[in-house]
Amino acid sequence: MLSKGVRRLLRAVFGFNEWHIATYAGRPYAKSVVDELNALQQRDRVVEIGCGLGDILRRLRFEHKLGLDQDTRVLNAASFLARISNPGSGNTLFQRAAFPDQQLVGKFDAIVLVNWIHHLAPEELREGLNRLFKDNLNSRGVLVFDVVANESYRFNHDWQYLTSELDCRTRLIGPFEYGRNIVFVQKGDS
Ligand SMILES: C[S@@+](CC[C@H](N)C(=O)[O-])C[C@H]1O[C@@H](n2cnc3c(N)ncnc32)[C@H](O)[C@@H]1O
Repeated sequence: MLSKGVRRLLRAVFGFNEWHIATYAGRPYAKSVVDELNALQQRDRVVEIGCGLGDILRRLRFEHKLGLDQDTRVLNAASFLARISNPGSGNTLFQRAAFPDQQLVGKFDAIVLVNWIHHLAPEELREGLNRLFKDNLNSRGVLVFDVVANESYRFNHDWQYLTSELDCRTRLIGPFEYGRNIVFVQKGDS
């Protein structure tokens, strides 16, 4: 478990944003994502878009893990943390990418986007999620995102609008802080 003190030290070295000082234990939504995904039967490939320091990704038990973020400073720190927390594991890759501008390549059993998509306008987000669901999610795979209900955020998304064009089963876990609900969208057999 990374304390705030250790995170501050990492910040001094890697220069990432203040937000990442927040501990995993202080963010119960993150634990709900980890617990739900680790309970899936199909756990070959997972990608987290906007992975930050990889607090969620490090805890996922999948064969192959990909962390994407638009900020190279957090990616450098996340890569360092993955190496020291599990030195024998070469199954995690970190790459720079900004969603939705850069198209994700490949198919995954789980795709995660949490605690930042409130920056994206509803139409742009829905289009991006539709594309991930259609092009990058395996049958029976799970797309995970969050919606918030708090006026301090730029957009409070409506999960029903965001999933309205998807042929899926949907389940919500929450609410957490800021009226946050985690939305689990499962693709059928196709
Ligand atoms: C608040 S952190 C959350 C980290 C992680 N998802 C979690 O919940 O522990 C949000 C991260 O998303 C990244 N991010 C924001 N907008 C992004 C975008 N459009 N594409 C990719 N990453 C983005 C930020 O650089 C930051 O590292």
